Amino acid sequence: MKTTISEVYKHAEKEVKIGAWIANKRSSGKIAFLQLRDGSGFIQGVVVKADVSEDVFQTAKTVTQESSVYVTGVVQKDERSPLGYELLVTGVEVLHHAVDYPITPKEHGTEFLMDNRHLWLRSRRQHAVMKIRNEIIRATYEFFNENGFSKVDPPILTGSAPEGTSELFATKYFDEDAYLSQSGQLYMEAAAMALGKVFSFGPTFRAEKSKTRRHLIEFWMIEPEMAFTEFDENLEVQEQYVAYIVQAVLKNCKLELKTLGRDTEKLEKITAPFPRITYDDAIVFLHEKGFDDIKWGDDFGAPHETAIAESYDKPVFITHYPTSLKPFYMQPDPNRDDVVLCADLIAPEGYGEIIGGSERIHDFELLKQRLEEHNLEMDAYKWYLELRQYGSVPHSGFGLGLERTVAWISGVEHVRESIPFPRLLNRLYP
Ligand code: 4AD
Ligand code: MG
Repeated sequence: MKTTISEVYKHAEKEVKIGAWIANKRSSGKIAFLQLRDGSGFIQGVVVKADVSEDVFQTAKTVTQESSVYVTGVVQKDERSPLGYELLVTGVEVLHHAVDYPITPKEHGTEFLMDNRHLWLRSRRQHAVMKIRNEIIRATYEFFNENGFSKVDPPILTGSAPEGTSELFATKYFDEDAYLSQSGQLYMEAAAMALGKVFSFGPTFRAEKSKTRRHLIEFWMIEPEMAFTEFDENLEVQEQYVAYIVQAVLKNCKLELKTLGRDTEKLEKITAPFPRITYDDAIVFLHEKGFDDIKWGDDFGAPHETAIAESYDKPVFITHYPTSLKPFYMQPDPNRDDVVLCADLIAPEGYGEIIGGSERIHDFELLKQRLEEHNLEMDAYKWYLELRQYGSVPHSGFGLGLERTVAWISGVEHVRESIPFPRLLNRLYP
């Protein structure tokens, strides 16, 4: 019976056939241990010399790391293995003999692993992170579909710059200038006026010259947008959503979290509601903590965010930032116009901002004024402004950065491990 490693539990005590790669291997005169992987999981194959033909044992002893094989064997319960099963091998057929594999079980440097990202992805650890990423994406679609959102796909080639003009990837669109999308938000606002509650999931591009463990040049963002939704309601959706994906990973990725050595007790605490702190109070808090240099009107850096996050065991919303720090489209606080109705959600454990969101300006005149203040080309935003002329409504939305979220939930140090092929400053290969 042909099966996959993740499904062997259905075939206990039976003989199965699995297409696999040799992840690792150990052998003595009488027994060989093959670490097999097939994409769905990892299992140990045990080849006992006395139980198989000389041919099979020789193959098991000599097969090289990452060679592809068809293995047959009897599925046996094994309490010591993470999977709970091992394979008592009866046959090995080599499909392709791998040449010397560069990634050996010894330690390798980061640059070497990044140069070999196309192969590094096969490792147990990277496999686990990719599975968790997949689960977060699956749970995202589930959450938004169950809550009445429609998926809408904004364009990647655009003529506008929602998050400021300094970090754009410019390209030619025949004779016109175009940019790779840095956020689908403006289009999602139009879509919300057509479909009510919408979400997007797609790649975004930022020509940011940042080289930190939180920054990618190309990353994936989930951007919900909701009509008739005000500031507080927006935060409630965010905390429900983030708690939902964390709980989904806890439930469906137990093995992967174990492989990564993730402290799951920390994740179990991630339930709604999340704490909220205003920007004003955050400044006071930072002064108390000894950050003397920061003053009202300054943006927070990673050390500030981490200091704030350390006071909580859940993600924390920092709300009501100064207007001057945020993009043109954010709704001012009705009680004071020096702050806007926005919130950044800061993940625990130093993973930084995972969500940026706000209520959007819905007044035509105010939005026009802001576009002018920001020196944005009216022609490119004509359609966006027009949304405020035909039944304008209070509306809000947010963007969750997938890779930072994957890094936090997986417990990996750097976002480069949370996307299959990271685009980083000075890295376009592989
Ligand atoms: O805070 P940002 O820039 O917000 C927006 O783009 C809004 N238009 C979203 C919206 O309201 N629809 O980005 C949102 C999130 C950040 O919180 C962060 O998680 C992630 O995107 N992000 C990055 N992730 C990796 N590398 C980068 N260079 C990132 N820049 C932002
Ligand atoms: Mg932000």
